[in-house]
Amino acid sequence: MARDGVRRRPNLKQKDSYELSRENEDDDKKWPYSNGNLDPLAKAVGAAVVVVMTILITYFRYQQYLRDIIITPMDSPLIIPANSSTPAVNPDRFWGTYRPQAYFGIKSRSKTSPVFGLMWMTQLTNQMPPPLRHWCDQGDQLEGYVWQKHDGLNFGVQEIREKLYTIKTEFVKQPGGSHSGDWSARISFTPKNPSVPVVVSSFFYSALDVDNGRLEPKLTKGRLTSVHGWHEDLGDFELQMPNVAISAEAGKTGEKPQVQHSYFISYAQQLDQLKDIMVNGLKVEAWDKARTKPYFSLSGRRVPRDVPGPNFVVKQVTTQLPFTMEVLFQSGSFVNRGDQLSKEKFSALIQSKEEEFDAKFENIFHLKQKGYQPNEISFAKAALSNMLGGIGYFYGSSLVQSRYNKEPINYWEAPLYTAVPSRPFFPRGFLWDEGFHNMLISMWSPEISKDIIGHWMDLMNADGWIPREQILGSEARAKVPSEFVVQRNTNANPPTFFLPLQALIKEMIKSHKPQDKAYLKALYPRLKTWFNYYNTTQKGDLPFTYRWHGRDPTVTKQLNPLTLTSGLDDYPRASHPTTDERHVDLRCWIALAAGVMADIARSLGQDWQEYKNTYALLTDNKLLDELHWSSQGQQYSDWGLHTDKARLEKPKPPPNHHPSQRPPPMDTDKIRVILSEPSKQFVNAFGYVSLFPFLLKIVDADSPKLDTILSDLTNPTKLWTDFGLRSISRNSKFYGRFNSEHDPPYWRGAIWINMNYLCLSALYHYSSVEGPYMDKAKTVYTDLRKNLVTNIFKEYERTGYIWENYNDKTGEGKGSHPFTGWSALVVLIMAETF
Ligand SMILES: *[C@@H]1O[C@H](CO)[C@@H](O)[C@H](O)[C@H]1NC(C)=O
Ligand SMILES: *[C@@H]1O[C@H](CO)[C@@H](O)[C@H](O)[C@H]1NC(C)=O
Repeated sequence: MARDGVRRRPNLKQKDSYELSRENEDDDKKWPYSNGNLDPLAKAVGAAVVVVMTILITYFRYQQYLRDIIITPMDSPLIIPANSSTPAVNPDRFWGTYRPQAYFGIKSRSKTSPVFGLMWMTQLTNQMPPPLRHWCDQGDQLEGYVWQKHDGLNFGVQEIREKLYTIKTEFVKQPGGSHSGDWSARISFTPKNPSVPVVVSSFFYSALDVDNGRLEPKLTKGRLTSVHGWHEDLGDFELQMPNVAISAEAGKTGEKPQVQHSYFISYAQQLDQLKDIMVNGLKVEAWDKARTKPYFSLSGRRVPRDVPGPNFVVKQVTTQLPFTMEVLFQSGSFVNRGDQLSKEKFSALIQSKEEEFDAKFENIFHLKQKGYQPNEISFAKAALSNMLGGIGYFYGSSLVQSRYNKEPINYWEAPLYTAVPSRPFFPRGFLWDEGFHNMLISMWSPEISKDIIGHWMDLMNADGWIPREQILGSEARAKVPSEFVVQRNTNANPPTFFLPLQALIKEMIKSHKPQDKAYLKALYPRLKTWFNYYNTTQKGDLPFTYRWHGRDPTVTKQLNPLTLTSGLDDYPRASHPTTDERHVDLRCWIALAAGVMADIARSLGQDWQEYKNTYALLTDNKLLDELHWSSQGQQYSDWGLHTDKARLEKPKPPPNHHPSQRPPPMDTDKIRVILSEPSKQFVNAFGYVSLFPFLLKIVDADSPKLDTILSDLTNPTKLWTDFGLRSISRNSKFYGRFNSEHDPPYWRGAIWINMNYLCLSALYHYSSVEGPYMDKAKTVYTDLRKNLVTNIFKEYERTGYIWENYNDKTGEGKGSHPFTGWSALVVLIMAETF
């Protein structure tokens, strides 16, 4: 019947159908059940209903389609096939320190991997209860924690500095069997001052991600000595926890130091609850016979009745420092293991890995050859190692929303292998950071970079959008306030992956390896779609202009509406967002992308002409100057509806008509007051955004504008400081200003290392291509490089950390720390690799 109706549809006018159906109201109910001899009238009614139904169904399907498009994966083969993280396909990268948010945590690249990790607590203090360390937290105020060496693959050595003692966490892998082999970890606690006794508890745990697997703790004479387990991707395994080693000195003072053992066998619904659950399992016991000193000890087996079995097992060891604890993960499929990976064998293997690391480091970065001192080289090794040691493996789905979704919905579940900007503060994937991260990572290991970039590109949806902040899995979500979880598909983020891809792709094309070929084949259609997403969704009103979407013209409390998408959050843009504003940095990013696309397409024998044309157009200096050069300001600029004359003020209380009544509660946050009407003009803030045509090497080498830029860079009243280039000019009205009552300046003066790196890269370029300003560029390059390296190193020595950004007046590190995302690019700056 439906088919019948559809066929007749062209002859049926809506008016007729309405009248017909009204006349036959009584028949309506019968109609669907009747068959055969229908009179013509009934047939027409049937047809009408079908048409209406079809329209409705089509409408609802279309609405559903619009709602779902955001969560529809791009229809193209994955770059990283589903099995590529398995021990069978990629045994080398299966195990790692893939939980960057934990001070020391190990897991595998199985999507439901068991996790292993460390917590610790200083005992016998005045604090009740004493703080328990687990996830990296700036509030812990540690004096530092840094992977001194980490190769991203086989081993890592980290030092964690508490006020009274240091903790060294080392781990190393040993291949064998069909599940990627074994690993061992050693945790050594050493007091800073041996004459001050300190008692510390070390907690080492194993936990399953929900119930996929088994954990069977083994007790020997009341002590937890090992955990036997099984998991579908790992097979059988055992975590052995031999007795702690107490070094001879500890016992020297007289009697043998007291060692207390305890354990906790329990159940956790989610991995982000481990610490809370364990805290609930602590009880107070007497440390000494006189019962004068209490300490905290785990309370044994506490498994709820209604769960399949324990999935969280902790061993606690408490004693006076120093002591060393080892844990040995042994894979069940490993045969002919020989000696256990413990004690001398462990030390010897770590030592040989460290030697390999040192040799490889010098081979790639040549810092010794460049005359750097040993402490500077150790610092550079730590910067690289923290980037590699911070690589995580996450699995889950983002919460996303498009304008067709009333509520946020779940993206598809997927893995993400990625570095992170900062372990305590941003322990998850960020799209625009990751391109910078991979400038460094790809120098160390092109294979790791390809794996990371492939994972990101596989997160692309049918529109070519990639959510810019990836908050996957319960451990990652627990770190993010809920208002920041949802990702919107109108919002782009700088396509920084084109920076590392430029060189990587050249290598892959040269290599002739079949796996590289397959990679490129899967990568290219994704890059095309990605490029197209930027080139279409972020374009401006005028042809060949671009605008960051996602700025909110309705905000009232911001001095300048944020541009989070650009990555430069509060960097001042047009004061009144409009659809015809244009952003010079975005134009340059897309120019870069078009250029790289042209190169890739050409070397793959694909059609590259259109990319070349777009690139030529976007880098045409005449057109660029027309659209973005402010002759008044003598600088490249955004353009839009703008006024500088605005400030934040406390709102005035409303007039109070009835003195007896209390005024209604009001929002007392400062609001923006506009002091002079905005007009369409160039935005005259001078800073990183103004530099983009230079940063991305678009300004012609013989352009007098290059000369102006070089002079502005070195002008201390504008961007130049002794510590690197500040983000906006000291002369700017926005310099150091809060953007709202509660938002301190972020990109309004501070020195950021990613931008300084791009600047050095540009200076390096302009000092090597023929042109009238070569020598000038060379001088600026030399001075800027020296200032940056000196200051970042000095601050590391002074504070123990590499920082998110640096104060332009004092050079002091600011913001989250350790921040060994793009601030770790200092290694490439030292090595002069651009
Ligand atoms: C991994 O998957 C690919 C296709 O998705 C397949 O060709 C390959 O044989 C698989 N490899 C293994 C070791 O299972
Ligand atoms: C980018 O967009 C413009 C239109 O804004 C179009 O003319 C050009 O061909 C596009 N470039 C590519 C490579 O698709």
